[in-house]
Amino acid sequence: MLSAAPLAAPEDVAWFLASYARDAKARIEESDLPALTVVREALEEALGIRFEGEKGEHFFRSTLVQTLFYGIFSAWVLWSQDHSPDDRAARFDWKGSAWSLQVPVIRALFEQVATPGKLEPLRLVEVLDWAAAALNRVDRAAFFSRFEETHAVQYFYEPFLEAFDPELRKELGVWYTPPEVVQYMVARVDTVLREELDIADGLADPRVYVLDPCCGTGTYLLEVLERIALTLDERGGDALNTDDLKRAAMTRVFGFEIMPAPFVIAHLQLGLFLQHAGAPFSETAGERAAVYLTNALTGWEKPHDHAHRLPFPELEDERDAAEKVKRDLPIVVILGNPPYNGYAGMAVAEERGLSDAYRTTTRAPAPQGQGLNDLYVRFFRMAERRIVEAAQHSAE
Ligand SMILES: C[S@@+](CC[C@H](N)C(=O)[O-])C[C@H]1O[C@@H](n2cnc3c(N)ncnc32)[C@H](O)[C@@H]1O
Repeated sequence: MLSAAPLAAPEDVAWFLASYARDAKARIEESDLPALTVVREALEEALGIRFEGEKGEHFFRSTLVQTLFYGIFSAWVLWSQDHSPDDRAARFDWKGSAWSLQVPVIRALFEQVATPGKLEPLRLVEVLDWAAAALNRVDRAAFFSRFEETHAVQYFYEPFLEAFDPELRKELGVWYTPPEVVQYMVARVDTVLREELDIADGLADPRVYVLDPCCGTGTYLLEVLERIALTLDERGGDALNTDDLKRAAMTRVFGFEIMPAPFVIAHLQLGLFLQHAGAPFSETAGERAAVYLTNALTGWEKPHDHAHRLPFPELEDERDAAEKVKRDLPIVVILGNPPYNGYAGMAVAEERGLSDAYRTTTRAPAPQGQGLNDLYVRFFRMAERRIVEAAQHSAE
């Protein structure tokens, strides 16, 4: 009875998308995916993970469904910018989604998976039609006025994951960070840069490279950019400030994320933020936020075997750009809210080895909970190694 009712609240739209995404996952769980072997191997290589065993298989299927649904959602957001909410006759068609997707890696994955030859045997066409029909019922004026409010994304993204894949959500520690905590942490970092490292402009100084290694929907990155905008404004506003802001988002405020759904939202949020600030990314110039789809815990050390080329150039570019951040750039700030859990489903040896540095002490109390196997220990070690040890090398 409700299937023709307009949708306005982001959480309702999220609920519908999640319920169709769950159907899609159930359908592909019943299928073999030989047609997707190439995508699977390319993703393993690009992300620095292995889809092994039951958990790995689950993650791969979830990744595919998230790419399809968040690809379509993102395409619909961008399509909506070109179609006035008053134009009630305008219909969004998911089959044209790849054309609107601006983040190359999502576009490439979407193009690989969303072909008739792949979707029909998986029985996904019907489910994607349902998702598009739900999007076509959205009261767009009401939806976007809430979606673009600062904290609306959490009401959109969390209900999706909760309804779509609560197990993976728990295993990867996908919880949004309360805005007050984010604001405090970013302000604290800004103060330390100014007062302890004598960097007068704090985060706004172009030498300050920042990374959120588990950026989720991009909350910390947005707050960092807001703080930079504030400092630039205080210094006296002119048109150059917005260029500086955009340059920061493209070249020195980095985010890593392993799951496509929050990754897509992070790009949307940062794109909208810059648009409102008067410095939109230019699609034709290939401009984008420096947020990469990658495993933050691997790829920091040994050079990649680049002789091993990936089947899609977009995945290769994404991997190379993330590796450049991991190996070459002088990162000064690593901040964020790492996952707390003991998810070992896809960890490769390099990732597991991160906690070994802490296994040598004889004075530590007996471990509690997950002990050193907790994921956050790996994130802490990665950051410590990058900031403390890499900085020491460059000082020597
Ligand atoms: C606690 S949440 C942080 C959310 C973010 N601060 C926000 O408010 O949206 C942790 C995030 O880390 C991501 N994550 C988990 N393991 C990761 C890995 N190895 N590499 C990159 N991201 C990872 C999860 O998918 C999740 O989005």
